[in-house]
Amino acid sequence: MNYSAKMLRDDALVDKTIVVTGGGSGLGKSMSRYFLELGANVVITSRNIEKLRIAARELSEATGANCLAVKCDVRNYNEVEDMHQTVVDKFGAIDVLLNNAAGNFISPTERLSSNAFDTIIDIVLKGTKNCTLVFGKHWIKTNQKMSKVVNIVTTYAWTGSGYVVPSATAKAGVLAMTRSLAVEWAKYGIQFNAIAPGPFPTKGAWDRLMPGDLKEKFDLAKKVPLKRVGEHQELANLAAYLVSDFSSYINGEVITIDGGEWLKGAGEFNILDDIPKEMWDQLEEMIRRKNDHN
Ligand code: HXC
Ligand code: NAP
Repeated sequence: MNYSAKMLRDDALVDKTIVVTGGGSGLGKSMSRYFLELGANVVITSRNIEKLRIAARELSEATGANCLAVKCDVRNYNEVEDMHQTVVDKFGAIDVLLNNAAGNFISPTERLSSNAFDTIIDIVLKGTKNCTLVFGKHWIKTNQKMSKVVNIVTTYAWTGSGYVVPSATAKAGVLAMTRSLAVEWAKYGIQFNAIAPGPFPTKGAWDRLMPGDLKEKFDLAKKVPLKRVGEHQELANLAAYLVSDFSSYINGEVITIDGGEWLKGAGEFNILDDIPKEMWDQLEEMIRRKNDHN
């Protein structure tokens, strides 16, 4: 099976302008690369303009398409307004906002300062709110139809998770925002969907979530029923579909792409995966014997 095969036809995103927050690294960069390959104009934004410029040059050269780097800390509403104006000035209209920027690190919650908690909430929840509000107000004011917001969340947006509590809290808020505005702003022709990825190795996430030898100790692939982590192109395929016109009747959905990871943790008896095949004859016999006594 070739997980890296590209899914959509080559012209699927021609004439679209897509803004990807946090697009200079990791999953944001991989999604941006595929959008460019499919013919979109892509604007990548984040705090670090040097990193962004290098990424934009690399992506433009690799795809022959137009990738623009714009500095923007999503925590700051004024910076988001400026970024939005820069993109409108350059491309005229924006079709898609992909809220991908995030901050996260593992920590027992009692070790966090108030500012540490706020920092994650500010990037993930407030950042998504800032971008959504600026872009949404403009789309509504200019009566632009067929615009889309795609938010990157995680599966612990609904399960919760210890040791990443600010991130879980913020992602839950982003998921609520996705579903709420999918309904409220549908009348303006704005669609909202979310993607909940399972483990997709990136430097940004692994340095902060699996530092040192944790990645060997807690091999995340083992938690996944499919026994592997995700490949970036698999996520890029899903994201490209969600930002394309092909997904025009999908609204308010969160699509999980995690190889079944969160469900494995949720199902009471999924731990029985660990029972060797040979043992099942013996277990069945034990259960049947008890039945006879009833
Ligand atoms: C405890 C910490 C800490 C740590 C920082 N802080 N790291 N506290 N343990 N490991 C505290 C600081 O002391 C400070 O509080 C506050 O957090 C803000 O830290 P700064 O370094 O000043 O913040 P900033 O420079 O804005 O950097 C933000 C950051 C950083 C989130 C801390 O890691 C970052 O830039 N991250 C961006 C990329 C990222 O996180 N990518 C991973 C996304 S992965 P005080 O009180 O001292 O001022 C993801 C995947 C989820 O979301 C699912 C995976 C399966
Ligand atoms: P990443 O490479 O660290 O991506 C995070 C991006 O956010 C970086 O490009 C960073 O760029 C940007 N960013 C951080 N703070 C910002 C701010 N205040 N303003 C603007 N941009 C900011 O990590 P990733 O793994 O690709 O994560 C991408 C998304 O996927 C995140 O939403 C994450 O929660 C989600 N996710 C990842 C996984 C996984 O397994 N990797 C699983 C589930 C969900 P700068 O530092 O230049 O600002």
